[in-house]
Amino acid sequence: MSAPAAARRVLSGMRPTGRLHLGNYHGALRNWVELQYQYECFFFVADWHMLTTGYDDTSRLQEQIRDVLIDWLAAGLNPGVATLFIQSQVPEHAELHLLLSMITPLGWLERVPSFKDQQEQLKEKDLATYGFLGYPLLQSADILIYRAAYVPVGEDQVAHVELTRETARRFNHLYGREPDFEEKAERAVKSLGGRNTTAYRQLRRKFQETGDTQSLERARALVQSNNRITVADRERLLGFLEGTGVTILPEPQVLLTTTPKVPGLDGRKMSKSYGNTIGLREEPDSVVKKLRAMQTDPARVRRTDPGDPEKCPVWDLHKIYSDEATRAWVNEGCRTAGIGCLDCKQKVIDKVVEEVTGMRRRAQEFEENPELVRGIVAEGADKAREAARQTLDEVRRAMHLRAD
Ligand code: TRP
Ligand code: SF4
Repeated sequence: MSAPAAARRVLSGMRPTGRLHLGNYHGALRNWVELQYQYECFFFVADWHMLTTGYDDTSRLQEQIRDVLIDWLAAGLNPGVATLFIQSQVPEHAELHLLLSMITPLGWLERVPSFKDQQEQLKEKDLATYGFLGYPLLQSADILIYRAAYVPVGEDQVAHVELTRETARRFNHLYGREPDFEEKAERAVKSLGGRNTTAYRQLRRKFQETGDTQSLERARALVQSNNRITVADRERLLGFLEGTGVTILPEPQVLLTTTPKVPGLDGRKMSKSYGNTIGLREEPDSVVKKLRAMQTDPARVRRTDPGDPEKCPVWDLHKIYSDEATRAWVNEGCRTAGIGCLDCKQKVIDKVVEEVTGMRRRAQEFEENPELVRGIVAEGADKAREAARQTLDEVRRAMHLRAD
């Protein structure tokens, strides 16, 4: 059986922290919704990751998983297009994690910035555990098992994708060697046929001589879109491009999301731990109340005091929700005290209420029918497992854990 072209596969995960807020939506989820129409997407709830820090109380885990899933669906993730699943329902991730753990130097994990940072931040918890140290490697397994090309994540996760790339490189280096690799690769180049053979050679030479990554990308696409060659030859051709060996686990790239700053009600970044959030499915009345009380430019004490939008978190919301004309109106009105803060906020309130109302409407059928959600993730896990198994087969074969 031939592995699916993974060149345009996207994978990302989210911990089941419970109901999501507008910061999560504008910071990540909204981007996922767009990506699902451009790539083959796998999105999963990282319940095992939750255990790496929250092992001491798992009593609400099921509820938190369900809430996150409903938020995803409410935000527009479409199970007809993207594969949505729960990590622990695809135990293949754990096998790859185990195998990768054999080749991962401890120092790589100890040097991941979040290792020390989180231990500092969560001082009351004992995070000197095996699972916590290894969680970035579990993340590597999450990514590599789908041979994902792109991983949409925020700045804080970039180091984890970098670790994933190093791990893939090390794996390919250790297990991607064949004694007669060059010969086999040359034969595979010929089997591409005619124009493709020529194009592959040209692109490979260009990349190797000038380091032109566009040529590399084009050559990869050429290999991946060819479905007449065998899986083994495809891996050889991918590996041959960079002159190494067989590429069993391709290196993923970060798809850095350019996300707007989403301020919380107190002006700090919107975050559950600050208690300054607006929920994705928050009741409209509560949205109105919260936004009316939101922090503004402290210099505007009275209605007649002019303000400066750059010093006001409400302005950051206008950048997300308001059109050009409204923003010009705010800018002018705020600086001249021509408008009051409540007038200014009302424009944002209208938009946020509209947004959460849509979310609530879409969430309703899933809230009423939990089995609908269960069905979606059961189907998603089946699809994910199928893709994961194909990679694991290759991995087991490369490591001589299979006889054939
Ligand atoms: N570690 C990520 C976070 O805490 C979640 C995650 C787990 C993830 N596995 C992943 C993200 C794989 C991207 C790819 O947010
Ligand atoms: Fe902020 Fe708007 Fe008030 Fe200016 S008018 S301080 S931008 S809320």
